[in-house]
Amino acid sequence: MPNVIILGSQWGDEGKGKIVDLFSEPFDIVARYQGGHNAGHTVFIGDQKYVLKLIPSGILRPGKKAVIGNGLVIDPAALLAEIDTLEAAGIAVAENLSISNRAHVLLPAHRMMEKMSEGRPGRVSIGTTSRGIGPCYEDKIARRGIRIADLLDKKFFRAQYDALMEEKITIAKAFGIAEDFDLAGIRAQYEAFADRVRPMVCDTAWLLNQAIRDGRRVLFEGAQGTMLDIDHGTYPFVTSSSASAGGACTGTGVPPTRIDGIIGVSKAYITRVGGGPFPTEALDGAGDQIRQRGNEFGAVTGRPRRCGWFDVPLLRYTAAINGFDSIVVTKIDVLDPFEKVNVCVAYRIDGRELTEMPPTVRDIETIEPVYECMPGWNTSTFGISSYDELPTRAKDYLAFLESRMGVEIGCISTGPERNQTIVRAGSRFAELTR
Ligand code: GDP
Ligand code: IMO
Ligand code: MG
Repeated sequence: MPNVIILGSQWGDEGKGKIVDLFSEPFDIVARYQGGHNAGHTVFIGDQKYVLKLIPSGILRPGKKAVIGNGLVIDPAALLAEIDTLEAAGIAVAENLSISNRAHVLLPAHRMMEKMSEGRPGRVSIGTTSRGIGPCYEDKIARRGIRIADLLDKKFFRAQYDALMEEKITIAKAFGIAEDFDLAGIRAQYEAFADRVRPMVCDTAWLLNQAIRDGRRVLFEGAQGTMLDIDHGTYPFVTSSSASAGGACTGTGVPPTRIDGIIGVSKAYITRVGGGPFPTEALDGAGDQIRQRGNEFGAVTGRPRRCGWFDVPLLRYTAAINGFDSIVVTKIDVLDPFEKVNVCVAYRIDGRELTEMPPTVRDIETIEPVYECMPGWNTSTFGISSYDELPTRAKDYLAFLESRMGVEIGCISTGPERNQTIVRAGSRFAELTR
């Protein structure tokens, strides 16, 4: 009864939402393990579009249980708005969602603190989603954060909230970014949030481990992508959580010995939102064409995504960090009209070819990508659901990526909807999601 992690292998927005929704069917529980409402996971079911931010995509399947693990930072207002939107669309959320009592609580002051790091002259601007995610994780690591269990303890919460806000306002004043907060009003609002979330809160690590012992299957859903991981990504142009496979254990309390498979999701090209190095970024018409065809605009902030060519060294790096058993390649249809498709097969710095990902942004910025130019297939792959029906050149493209990455491509996505998907017969992917 394999338990599986599905996560992003690039800089996020790889199509994780679609893949998790589609393959959650044989699983009993879908668990998110990190991030917050900086994530935007889009799922189409027929004409209906859902954008999930904090709630795992598995919630869309009737009867599935969803878990928000301890590794997340939760803005209760964003969570409750998401619950209300889904329930208004006929999805049963309240009875199927469990929220970790150890997850951290995001406050309006965290957004204010983000202005200090993002807006001030002389500071490196990361181009964050401005949701206060980084400052909330800062408080967690600094051991002064407020957790969901604290929010539910009225007396303790009051004292902790007042002390934390006093500290935040002192710092904000010193930096000239203090906002006028109705401190008591916000506190009362959070007390009301506590009453609404209380019935969903529990020890989710216990719940998940017990479920696994009882023979039920868990699918772990990553947010962001490995190149945005706080340790393994393009630091400091990263998010503040552990988006890679290791995060699934620390962010849920399920031990590594209970995880049986790890699946990476990658686009047939690559995108990035916000600042930071991007070796294969296509700053010419090709990048614009990918953006238009792939509708590459952020699901959370609406910002245009930067677009570029498939990067094999980057995938080899993220495959190693995560131990991918299989890779899903999404959005192959976006490349349909191209006469030629570039693939970066190596990195060159100062005339030397590298096999590793350089550790610093300074080094990554000096990378010259070595491209191999593949002939395009120049015909529609949109909606194809059988591997045999793919045009030969599209198959050649996938075979080339597979051989250079050294990991199988077990699934190919040819459109946003559930039925626009190919599963390779006999693949490890098919085995893990059966
Ligand atoms: P996530 O954050 O990884 O879940 O990805 P996003 O939802 O932010 O972005 C992926 C976008 O691509 C969404 O709008 C999906 O509906 C869409 N999408 C997913 N797979 C495919 C595909 O194979 N082809 C096309 N054309 N669109 C896709
Ligand atoms: P999903 O789950 C793409 C990026 C932001 C910024 C950096 C830090 O939909 O793939 P943050 O607000 O997290 O402190 O911003 O990370 N970022 C994402 N990019 N997809 C996401 O999520 C992202 N979540 C954060 O654009 O560069
Ligand atoms: Mg997204």
